[in-house]
Amino acid sequence: MYCYRTMNSIAAEIAGTGSGDRSARGIAAAVGRMISSGQLAVGTRLPTVRELSKLLGVSPTTVSEAWQSLAAVGAIDARGRQGTFVRQPTGPVTPRRYRRITEGPGRFALDLSTGTPDPALLPDLGPVIARVSRQSLTSSYLDHPVLPGLGEHLRASWPFVPDDLTVVDGAMDALDRVASAVVRLGDRVVVEHPTFPPLLDLLELLGAEVIGVNLDDEGMRPDGLAAALVGGVRAVFLQPRAHNPTGITLTSRRSKQLAAVLADSDAIIVEDDHSGDIASGTLASLGVHLPGRTVHIRSYSKSHGPDLRLAAVGGAGEVIGAIANRRLLGPGWSSRLLQAVLLEMLEHQPTIDAVAAARLEYARRRKAVSAVLAHGGVAFTGTDGINLWMRVADERSALLTLAAQGIGAAPGEPFMARDDEPSMRVTVGLIDRDLDEIAHRLADAAGNVPARGGQR
Ligand SMILES: Cc1ncc(COP(=O)(O)O)c(C=O)c1O
Repeated sequence: MYCYRTMNSIAAEIAGTGSGDRSARGIAAAVGRMISSGQLAVGTRLPTVRELSKLLGVSPTTVSEAWQSLAAVGAIDARGRQGTFVRQPTGPVTPRRYRRITEGPGRFALDLSTGTPDPALLPDLGPVIARVSRQSLTSSYLDHPVLPGLGEHLRASWPFVPDDLTVVDGAMDALDRVASAVVRLGDRVVVEHPTFPPLLDLLELLGAEVIGVNLDDEGMRPDGLAAALVGGVRAVFLQPRAHNPTGITLTSRRSKQLAAVLADSDAIIVEDDHSGDIASGTLASLGVHLPGRTVHIRSYSKSHGPDLRLAAVGGAGEVIGAIANRRLLGPGWSSRLLQAVLLEMLEHQPTIDAVAAARLEYARRRKAVSAVLAHGGVAFTGTDGINLWMRVADERSALLTLAAQGIGAAPGEPFMARDDEPSMRVTVGLIDRDLDEIAHRLADAAGNVPARGGQR
């Protein structure tokens, strides 16, 4: 129930403007000022259209228009029968978790905290760049944002038939754009627990209620997802392959089970295939089962280079359309020069071979470290990608023990959607030599934790 004081204070603000402007614009401006000044706090329920129009002596359409214009700029949020609420102002962003995971370059002789690919395993851009010399890639600012040849390649290799498809500046950009288009203040959103820290920061910024669902060896647990859906869920974010931080790849059996659990809900499914072609596991997309509600993201950062800054995002037409429209009022499109470079790389045999070789090398490194950890009784998860998630007796002392030896690793806490056992993430894909010795150091740093047969 909103408070009558709110309604009277809005009326007073409108009267107090001097002009007493009771047009839709005047009402929207008055309420907007009250939100900016903090007079109307985040989460405040606004009066109904009918009640405010009666008090102000204007038509319900006028108040409704005012509410629509405030909703369009994200100041308020209409939640159907629950009412209309003041939204979180978009203030300074503090990616607290993201900032915590890595201390920045140059701090460690061997920095395994970064989650980045090994530069030595990225394909050489030289021969490809030389072939991309055309400067006539853009004829109008309203050209389709995807280079036609790249669009064809993407559609042919997409895991399901997408309603629509676009290209943005990396998977994180895609997550930002999709979440901003889909998630509203107070929405319940499911993520894997643990998950990628900036996703948690982003959802916090948007004012979502985040529900972390556990993973097992096959991916997100269907029972946990079913329990979360009971309260109504706006979106489910998951990583289908080489999950960061756990290294778990969703099986096709689990993908089918999750799709069945989601079939009766109207949640949007957001799949972040951030590892792309360096993942060893087969991609199992929920989009195969629920194409109209799945948004699939494919990054080329780990396979082709983070500085291409390119990811494709395709699936549910409404979401992709909203992203493309919003983007027209910003950068418009991702560099077509870089898209052309990517397309060349995707069709260039030596590049294809280099990516395949990187995939094998990451798998080799991971396997060597895993063998030592398993032998040492350390609990860890996953089989795929560049990251390994391991239990430690104490997070701080594990990180300090490694730091004293010049090795960096990421603390587990920023990855957690809720409190859990101390852990750390190690980007084992960056260990290019002395695998055995470094794995032993990792095992020692883990300390004395209860063994669970190597995997958990
Ligand atoms: C799960 C996950 N999503 C997104 C990203 C960001 O990828 P991109 O470089 O494409 O922005 C990463 C990077 O490590 C990641 O691990």
